[in-house]
Amino acid sequence: MAIPGDDATLTISPSELRTIRDELQRFLLEYRFGMQEIETKIGILREEFEHTHDYNPIEHVSSRLKSPDSIVEKVARKGIDSDFDSIRAGITDIAGIRVTCSFVTDVYRLFDLLVRQDDITLVTMKDYIAEPKPNGYQSLHAIIEVPVFLSTGRVEVPVEVQFRTIAMDFWASLEHKIYYKYDRQVPDRLLSELKDAADSAAALDQRMERLHRELHGPRPAAVVAI
Ligand code: GTP
Ligand code: MG
Repeated sequence: MAIPGDDATLTISPSELRTIRDELQRFLLEYRFGMQEIETKIGILREEFEHTHDYNPIEHVSSRLKSPDSIVEKVARKGIDSDFDSIRAGITDIAGIRVTCSFVTDVYRLFDLLVRQDDITLVTMKDYIAEPKPNGYQSLHAIIEVPVFLSTGRVEVPVEVQFRTIAMDFWASLEHKIYYKYDRQVPDRLLSELKDAADSAAALDQRMERLHRELHGPRPAAVVAI
């Protein structure tokens, strides 16, 4: 089979093509397992928390595996070599999980409870809540590594976890739609409205948290002590 490459036309036999497909599937499988491990950990925290404190700090959890198309696009955009080791090192959001919490304190609480687990390694953390992006985007991003045990041995799999509140999630999903509708060239008027909306979302988060604290009192002592 002839495949147009960047410099020249590559000729790949059907069996080579099958090998590449199998290697890609295996590569992605590791990320799927890593994602499942983190989903399980978050599910355990959620259930245990609800059982112990009669309170659920998580509103919603979603996860996604980056598609092969989107990996290829990012490899090209970031100028990463097209071998699996380079992709592994250069793209850390192949497995992604988004944890939507009720309140900002829950965001930090969940993050802490997850990264303190002794099989988890925190690779990077970006706190866009303490320091929102100039457009107003807020969330807590963490790249963590979790061990996955395969028949061939143990591998550490990076997973990107985004923690945010419902208000932050509401804002981010609208901003994302606007960004793509205008093909990344959003008119200034809309950008400034979005920034205003982000400020309102942050104010609402603070207000809801105050009300919640009045209702439930301070955080449970066991959690404060961790
Ligand atoms: P990517 O190369 O896009 O993964 O970004 P990055 O390496 O600079 O990482 P960063 O932590 O800033 O953002 C990663 C992810 O966070 C994105 O893929 C989005 O899901 C989300 N994100 C970051 N910034 C924004 C933003 O301004 N608006 C929205 N809606 N989402 C954002
Ligand atoms: Mg990304």
